[in-house]
Amino acid sequence: MNRVWILLFAGLLAIVIAMNALQSRDAKRRDSERIEPKALLSTDPTRFLTTVEFTPAEPTYVGREVCRECHAENFRLHGNHGHKSTFTTTDDPEIIEMFAGKSYDAGEPYGTYTYHADEEGLFARIPEKFGDQPFRLNYALGSADGAVTLLSLMPDAELGTVAIEHRASWFSDTGELRPTPLENTGPPKTPADFFGLRHEGEVMHKCVYCHTTRGRIVDQKIVDLVPNVNCEKCHGPASEHVRQARAMRVPPKFSVGRDDWDTESEIQLCGDCHRLPVTVSRTKLREYPDELSRFQPVGLLRSKCFVESEGKLKCSTCHNPHETVTAVPKEKHLQNCIDCHLEDSPQHVACPVSPREGCIDCHMPAIELAGLSVSFHDHWIRVHQEE
Ligand code: HEC
Ligand code: HEC
Ligand code: HEC
Ligand code: HEC
Ligand code: HEC
Ligand code: HEC
Ligand code: HEC
Repeated sequence: MNRVWILLFAGLLAIVIAMNALQSRDAKRRDSERIEPKALLSTDPTRFLTTVEFTPAEPTYVGREVCRECHAENFRLHGNHGHKSTFTTTDDPEIIEMFAGKSYDAGEPYGTYTYHADEEGLFARIPEKFGDQPFRLNYALGSADGAVTLLSLMPDAELGTVAIEHRASWFSDTGELRPTPLENTGPPKTPADFFGLRHEGEVMHKCVYCHTTRGRIVDQKIVDLVPNVNCEKCHGPASEHVRQARAMRVPPKFSVGRDDWDTESEIQLCGDCHRLPVTVSRTKLREYPDELSRFQPVGLLRSKCFVESEGKLKCSTCHNPHETVTAVPKEKHLQNCIDCHLEDSPQHVACPVSPREGCIDCHMPAIELAGLSVSFHDHWIRVHQEE
């Protein structure tokens, strides 16, 4: 009797294995039949369109809502992260509330701004200089946990479009408007200069790039705008991943987690926005002024912890990339240090001063930068002179 069952089971197993093999062969064949867009360009495209169904080789974006279905926890965590609120349009009621009806004295030579919102949008005026002439404010960068800075896109005869970074920002610590930390560029030359600092070209595009998942500046608008640093900004367009996951197959690794995903790739990803040494001048790298604490990857890369741990230390060693730092208890950060700097461990040195507590305060102190409401922890982990 038992033997019959075993035979039956073995038979079934063989069928399942054979079906799987067929399926994956089919998948392979489908992949190889796919037409690359490049191939289409080099020949007459209509020839293919009539005979073969065109499958785009490049996956497309599906939006973060789609991820919730299968990755509920990461979806929930990301919802509370600063990455979820880095960019919005000024018709957002929260932004209107921060500015409309207020006034702000930017001092000479700029004058006093007054703000109003109507169905056309959010506007600033400088009554003493330009009377009733409104200046349109289009986009808001930064989250309500820190600071919010407004950005306008303007036509320019030569360049097509330029951006104006408004001179007043909203700060969460006091809920008031204060000066946006901007470089000093001399006296205003055009009316727009009275309202803010002008950015053009690469700088303008990167400003939008770092704060959004997608979007291109075309004329005075951002088209295909997907605001905020969402799942697909880091993981890439996920349509193929979702399609394959829905087809009840184990989806092939498509982003982080794939074989060539290593420490360097991760620091490159985070550093793309949080800055890398290549984006900092040599003088600053040498002198390491306090302001560099804002650029965590720059500090981390010069720490002994990084240099001497053979590629084991990366951002996600201490940060779940989906969870906001503000939700992480202090003990958790401490534990990250102790995991490597265990007392009585032959592998790493331990602290002769305080082997079990206070690591962050002494070795990664928070540094307040002038004009900002948030401070930054110096990620150049080291023994500070004053200790
Ligand atoms: C229909 C379910 C489903 C949806 C929707 C889905 N995933 Fe997945 N995802 C999976 C499965 C299954 C795995 C594999 C889990 C494993 O191997 O343990 C996975 C794994 C991953 C991984 C791990 C690394 C890798 O490349 O495999 C990432 C990153 C990921 N998904 C991102 C996303 C993002 C971003 C979205 C939304 C755009 C998304 N997923 C939507 C089912 C889904
Ligand atoms: C596309 C640009 C971009 C990338 C890539 C990026 N960040 Fe950010 N990150 C931002 C911006 C913009 C903010 C500011 C959010 C705000 O306004 O508060 C931020 C804020 C943060 C914060 C503080 C806010 C919070 O809620 O904790 C942490 C921590 C952080 N990022 C870690 C990371 C890590 C780790 C990576 C890599 C896995 C990464 N970031 C990749 C743009 C990026
Ligand atoms: C290279 C990528 C990058 C560029 C370019 C960039 N940002 Fe950011 N921005 C970040 C990151 C990362 C953070 C979070 C860490 C920080 O505050 O420095 C941030 C934070 C902010 C904040 C929140 C500050 C706070 O204290 O909460 C504002 C506001 C902001 N950026 C506005 C702008 C504006 C306006 C521009 C363009 C003129 C711009 N950013 C260009 C990456 C960038
Ligand atoms: C700032 C970049 C960034 C954003 C935004 C981001 N991720 Fe990730 N994600 C990462 C990194 C880096 C890892 C690898 C972490 C590691 O190696 O420990 C990861 C790992 C994952 C994994 C596999 C490991 C795990 O935690 O299960 C999944 C699934 C995933 N992310 C889904 C998502 C989803 C869904 C969203 C949006 C709701 C999202 N991610 C947003 C950077 C990001
Ligand atoms: C992945 C393991 C790892 C982690 C996590 C880690 N370190 Fe280190 N750290 C090292 C290594 C390796 C060295 C070089 C000395 C040694 O071998 O122990 C080092 C050196 C140091 C030094 C001496 C630096 C110098 O310039 O002399 C200090 C201070 C330090 N770590 C503090 C910390 C603190 C604080 C944390 C947590 C925020 C931390 N480390 C997290 C691996 C790590
Ligand atoms: C050894 C642990 C460790 C590593 C590695 C690490 N961080 Fe941090 N990070 C911290 C701690 C601790 C804080 C402060 C948390 C708090 O506010 O209590 C922090 C805070 C931050 C913040 C919030 C602003 C600030 O500076 O206080 C950002 C953004 C950030 N880290 C980005 C990164 C990025 C990007 C990387 C990778 C290049 C990275 N971190 C690697 C420990 C680490
Ligand atoms: C009160 C400040 C303070 C606190 C808290 C503190 N340290 Fe230190 N740490 C120091 C000083 C000062 C030195 C340099 C000691 C010396 O050179 O004699 C040091 C040295 C170190 C070293 C280098 C040791 C060596 O032999 O090169 C490591 C690693 C280290 N600390 C890790 C940590 C860790 C991990 C924590 C938390 C568990 C921590 N420290 C807490 C002040 C502190």
